[in-house]
Amino acid sequence: MALLEIEDLAVGYDGVPALQGVSLRADRGEIVALVGSNGAGKSSLLRAISGLLRPERGAIRFEAADLARVPPHEIVARGIAHVPEGRRVFATATVRDNLLLGAFVRRDAGEREARMAAAFRAFPRLEERLAQRASTLSGGEQQMLAIARGTMSAPKLLMLDEPSLGIAPKLIPAIYAGIRSVAADGTGVLLVEQNVRDALQISDRAYVLQTGKIVAHGSARELLESELIKKAFLGL
Ligand SMILES: Nc1ncnc2c1ncn2[C@@H]1O[C@H](COP(=O)(O)OP(=O)(O)O)[C@@H](O)[C@H]1O
Ligand SMILES: [Mg+2]
Repeated sequence: MALLEIEDLAVGYDGVPALQGVSLRADRGEIVALVGSNGAGKSSLLRAISGLLRPERGAIRFEAADLARVPPHEIVARGIAHVPEGRRVFATATVRDNLLLGAFVRRDAGEREARMAAAFRAFPRLEERLAQRASTLSGGEQQMLAIARGTMSAPKLLMLDEPSLGIAPKLIPAIYAGIRSVAADGTGVLLVEQNVRDALQISDRAYVLQTGKIVAHGSARELLESELIKKAFLGL
């Protein structure tokens, strides 16, 4: 049984289609990249999985259960965490409090501490900055905090919307290393990126989205070598 399985999905905004005929799957412990240019429909797909945008046709199944009528808060409770674009953190709260706010669905204190320890294994810089206000972190560190907060609910699937967008290039490897660490702990990761080369380098499998349709999918390594990716995204 796939962790996440999407079949023939169509969604739109006031009748204007954003996704058509999209099928995709993601499993535990793997990083699946969803790459495509601005406006391709990547964020819309994450919104549909989170229940914020309802399918016009097709199915979204999580652990074999259809999510069509499941409200967004219940989708979170079932184990899907969505880190939206733009590294939103609570600026005046400390790093520690930002993380604890992400653990609201985990009531057990011991479990929260275990989640925090896992977050620090993924992003050691956050532990060094535990008592600092989030507003004092660099952009890249705020992105680490946003991702780490997403892991605090112990999700089975972590969805990341453009985690490298607007981040200083020298911090991107640390962000991606953290994402790999999260997947190595058994979490499925759905990684949305316009940064195609870097995303394919850390992913196991990938889907290429163009104007709302999947135009290619396969192992990340195969796609990195494919003519489509080289021409459309890598400028080769
Ligand atoms: N809130 C919205 N209202 C109307 N159209 C939208 C809205 N959000 C996105 N769209 C449109 O849906 C399409 C896909 O957008 P989006 O999912 O944001 O793409 P991406 O994340 O790949 O840049 C685009 O044509 C965009 O203009
Ligand atoms: Mg987007």
